Amino acid sequence: MWLSAVVFASVAALVSGQLSAYTAPGAFPTSLYAKYYNNPTATSEQPQPIIADPVNHKVFPYSLTDPSHIPQNDTIDPNPLPPVASSSKLLEQAIAQVKSISVNPIFGTNQCARCQASLEVAKFLALSAPDQGPNFAVALCEHFNYSSSCETNYGSLNLGPIFTQVLSFADAGGYDGQLICAQFLGLCSYPDTLPLNITGWFAKPKPNPLPAPKQPSGERLKVLHLSDLHIDPRFANGAEANCTSGLCCRENAYNKLSPHTPLLPAPRFGYFLCDSPYSLITAVLEAIPPLAGTETTGFNFTLYTGDLLAHDPNNQQSRAYTEYSEVVLFDLLKRVLGPGPVYATLGNHDSFPVDIAPSYSLGGELGQQFGWLYDHITALWNYEGWLPEDSVELSRAHYAAYMVKRTDGLRIISLNTNLCTSNYFNYINTSHPDTSGMMRFLTDELQDAEDAGDRAWIIGHVVSGWDGSNSLFNPTNLFYQM
Ligand SMILES: *[C@@H]1O[C@H](CO)[C@@H](O)[C@H](O)[C@H]1NC(C)=O
Ligand SMILES: *[C@@H]1O[C@H](CO)[C@@H](O)[C@H](O)[C@H]1NC(C)=O
Ligand SMILES: *[C@@H]1O[C@H](CO)[C@@H](O)[C@H](O)[C@H]1NC(C)=O
Ligand SMILES: *[C@@H]1O[C@H](CO)[C@@H](O)[C@H](O)[C@H]1NC(C)=O
Ligand SMILES: *[C@@H]1O[C@H](CO)[C@@H](O)[C@H](O)[C@H]1NC(C)=O
Ligand SMILES: *[C@@H]1O[C@H](CO)[C@@H](O)[C@H](O)[C@H]1NC(C)=O
Repeated sequence: MWLSAVVFASVAALVSGQLSAYTAPGAFPTSLYAKYYNNPTATSEQPQPIIADPVNHKVFPYSLTDPSHIPQNDTIDPNPLPPVASSSKLLEQAIAQVKSISVNPIFGTNQCARCQASLEVAKFLALSAPDQGPNFAVALCEHFNYSSSCETNYGSLNLGPIFTQVLSFADAGGYDGQLICAQFLGLCSYPDTLPLNITGWFAKPKPNPLPAPKQPSGERLKVLHLSDLHIDPRFANGAEANCTSGLCCRENAYNKLSPHTPLLPAPRFGYFLCDSPYSLITAVLEAIPPLAGTETTGFNFTLYTGDLLAHDPNNQQSRAYTEYSEVVLFDLLKRVLGPGPVYATLGNHDSFPVDIAPSYSLGGELGQQFGWLYDHITALWNYEGWLPEDSVELSRAHYAAYMVKRTDGLRIISLNTNLCTSNYFNYINTSHPDTSGMMRFLTDELQDAEDAGDRAWIIGHVVSGWDGSNSLFNPTNLFYQM
């Protein structure tokens, strides 16, 4: 601006014979405009001619050019926004964006970045059009050739709604997203286990010195440990037992070498590749008392460490099928094993859908969506006489995890390990070592036992620890601090 003012104030012409310089008059040529907002000849400010638009005949106001009041915001002209997208439009755009991310060369070989960027798209679809979450899962499953039964596995009657819930809560662009891409898609490396802050975690310091060991009474208890019965009430005698099609000894099972004629017709007492038929379950249970010498006494107690149900795919299961297996097996244990309580724990197959358990921290109805399961199994344990009244509320309120205080001073602490394993819901808030509160529950129960001088036996279905497959790292880290 400065420069142009100097140059144009005095225009030099180089053509010979003409003026070589022109000096403009000092006063503003007021005749140029008919009207002014100010005094055009004043030298203290610039002239402000009144300008009219010859097209619409509107006069531009002084405020438009008033040097001492420059508008800071244009609040008059429109600032158009795109229309709110319908939920089907959101779905279409989300799919298109993930496809773009999957082929955009800017990501190079960084599949992890592609994966987390795509999860971010999925997260906002889950938040804005949750009804389209399952369609999104199915469409991408089909596009990426992820499964031959995308609709069955990821549609609205199976995992689609669960994926949608998880993504709506998860930190898709952060630690949760990296872990999801590592665990389920193999596209990221596993993030490091996070430093643990256990300040304030324990109510009391570790006893020092440690209490002296209890004096053994010399009395021996008879304890039975059972697990993973996996009853298959849909077992079909004569169906293919040596199948290549998933769960064998089912009407639709086949071996691809002989699709129409079973190579090994399912025997009445079961087969290695099949879940357990009634005949096998009852034969096994009936054999226990005579073999253990407990026909007249029963066991002092029995532990059942989970997995009652067969390995049906989710689409063949239901709440009723889950409850049926619970009712049948617990009733058989009670009647065949005789007196003595059974302390049972939930396995990963004892939920519907399998391997799933949401944290109460989802809040509201979502937090309580497995209440039907915890209420039913708790009531059943109580009905069989194994779970005393004062443990019932604890169990209902803790994912069917509970503590039973036996009269002999032993406490049984049963965990629902689904809250610590690769259950999809556990991929929400993974940077926190105890989103569900399962470790808090265990810590508090152990503290109570320690305070009372009692011993505790912890039971759970999935192995705890750093085995690198089942238990998540951050909760495992906390588990070891106890
Ligand atoms: C300009 O608009 C913004 C938002 O509409 C407002 O926050 C801000 O105060 C305005 N500035 C002035 C100087 O009026
Ligand atoms: C999925 O499989 C089809 C048929 O084999 C193939 O044409 C397509 O490229 C595959 N899609 C992807 C994303 O790999
Ligand atoms: C650790 O946890 C305690 C108690 O919650 C908190 O006061 C402290 O700031 C935390 N320390 C760090 C390093 O985060
Ligand atoms: C079981 O099936 C496999 C192929 O899936 C075959 O190699 C094997 O011989 C079969 N065994 C029996 C006992 O039929
Ligand atoms: C264990 O069971 C036997 C046989 O019923 C019984 O006599 C004994 O008192 C039980 N022991 C305890 C500690 O409950
Ligand atoms: C995730 O963690 C944050 C912070 O600890 C907590 O406020 C929030 O409720 C958690 N959300 C879920 C779904 O667990």
